[in-house]
Formats: sequence, structure tokens, C-alpha cells
Amino acid sequence: MRIFAAVVPPEHALDDLEEFLAPRREAGPGLRWTARDQWHLTVAFMPAVPERAVDDLLARMARAAARRTPFAATLTGAGAFPDPARAKVLWAGVGGLEPEVELSRLAVGARAAAAKAGADVEGRRFHPHLTLARVGRPAEVTRWLRVLETYRGPEWTASELVLVESHLGEGPRRRPRYEVVETFALGVRR
Ligand code: 2AM
Repeated sequence: MRIFAAVVPPEHALDDLEEFLAPRREAGPGLRWTARDQWHLTVAFMPAVPERAVDDLLARMARAAARRTPFAATLTGAGAFPDPARAKVLWAGVGGLEPEVELSRLAVGARAAAAKAGADVEGRRFHPHLTLARVGRPAEVTRWLRVLETYRGPEWTASELVLVESHLGEGPRRRPRYEVVETFALGVRR
């Protein structure tokens, strides 16, 4: 199974981002914008979770979430992966040191939980981001970043870790279909 652990901003934060992007989406012919119902901040990506590891993964993720506490966050700023000169991905960032630190602690816990459960887990340096668009052919996106960087959304409280299964090619236009496996409250022991 292909699974990721993520923080999903609440509706009012997604509404605000959507409003900001709506008039701009049209202007990017080479960009494939992500769908609002798929927006999230990935903290751990597990490309291959054996079926037999799922129960243990759920138990360990619950404990990783319980060890953290809810925190305030704001979506703001923008960036490109791997870099603005040859971008493949455009993303919105998370503002402020505290949410960055909290998200990265959550990432450490979620990745450790995944590894201990026997799931393959992506080990790249954690960089909090919400993927806004994928670039068809890697391109120079400085102009886009200047626009997207001006975004500053409302403050919200991150209070849950969501485990999502990604079904490749099963969504509209052969995009992945995301299915929530389970939601864990931060700071709550079960
Ligand atoms: P993203 O976080 O940059 O958007 C499901 O594929 C989710 O896991 C997506 O949000 C995706 O990218 C994230 N992810 C992290 N590392 C990945 C990788 N190596 N391959 C695919 N998706 C990855």
C-alpha cells in the first residue's frame, strides 16, 4: 500500500487559499494545479507498506500523534522543487518558526513510527509544503513565485495527523485517489 501521513488545514484556511488562487489558476497553461480536496502537508511518505504492517503502523502512528500537541499554523509564502530554475513542483509554505518546528517534530515521529512498523519511508530532508501545482515540463518559475509568495492565509490550529492511502491512477484524469485510513488527534492518548 502507498500511504502518507499529513496535516490537513481546516476548511476556512483552504477556502482562503482557493480564493487567492482562483483568478491565477487560468494563467498557467504549463501547470497542473492540484485539487483543493487533495491539499495537505505531508509529514511522512511510505511508498510501500506491506499489508501485514498496517495494524502496527496504525498503533505506532497513534502514539506518535499522541506525543505531540496541537499548534497554530498559517499557510504563507511559496517555493519550488527542486529549484525555481527547473521547477517540477510549486508549493505554498508554512509561516513562522513554531509551526515549522512542530511539523518537523511530527515528521520525525511519524517517520520513526513507519520505519518501526516495517514500512519503507521516504527519508529526504523534511520541508513543510503544500503542493499547489506540478509543472508539465520543468520550467523557470520565478514569475510564479513572485505572485504566490505574496500569499498569507489565516491562522488555524493543527490538531490532527491524517493517514491517507493513495491509489495511483484511480482519480479523475488518472490522478491518484486519496482515501483517509485514519485520523489521530494530536496530544490525545487512546
Ligand atoms: P508532496 O507532499 O510534495 O505533495 C502522496 O504522494 C503525497 O506524498 C504527496 O503529497 C507527495 O508529495 C508526498 N510525497 C513525499 N515524497 C514523495 C515521493 N518520493 N514520491 C511521491 N510522493 C511523495
